[in-house]
Amino acid sequence: MRANAHCYNCWVNKQNNPQTNFEALINSLSAQGYVICENFLPEQTILGLRDEAHKRHANLEMRAAKIGLLNQSQQSNIRGDQITWLDEQSENSAIQAYFEQMHALRTLLNQYLFMNLQALETHFAIYPIGGAYQKHLDQFSHGSDAKARQLSSILYLNNDWQANDGGELRLYLNESEYLDILPTAGKLVLFLSAKFWHEVRPAKRERASLTGWFRTRGQLLP
Ligand code: OGA
Ligand code: MN
Repeated sequence: MRANAHCYNCWVNKQNNPQTNFEALINSLSAQGYVICENFLPEQTILGLRDEAHKRHANLEMRAAKIGLLNQSQQSNIRGDQITWLDEQSENSAIQAYFEQMHALRTLLNQYLFMNLQALETHFAIYPIGGAYQKHLDQFSHGSDAKARQLSSILYLNNDWQANDGGELRLYLNESEYLDILPTAGKLVLFLSAKFWHEVRPAKRERASLTGWFRTRGQLLP
């Protein structure tokens, strides 16, 4: 059954953020384990990020995303996106603005929700028309990286995305309910990596996003 979600209008940084919106974000994340924010960054920054994603794609800097030890054709059945990782030292001003905002968010989450988030890893992702990502969890249960990812964060970069373009993020809330979230420009979705199964539905247009994971260095108790 499809559920409805509330979207908050959120600027995290100090100049733009009415405190009430940030409080709503914290409360919602704390109560539900996920939250959806509109306008997480100024339009100009979103445009800059989208241009950078497309530039890297055109320059063939993106690679098919990988999952564990699966071979190439097993991988592409599970996920169809191409990715490229972001470097915090980048000179690109939109990338700098993104990291600044994410660090402001991380500080606030640690302060109010004691999340102990330490590092952030982020990649651009472009899904071709028809590309999808089957239902999965972002936290790995095995290997040296097990349980490191605490909070998943996806920032969408797509202008004028319409409901019939598809490409929704389907976030499973429990056995019988899910949310379908359209990947519209400036929207940020946060959810607990250990808890929420999710998938990307096939889209009728190319679909661009920035996916990040806040990690903890210390091993959490299971
Ligand atoms: C992922 C993922 C969701 C999305 O990259 O792990 O689930 O909406 N992405 O792009
Ligand atoms: Mn995922």
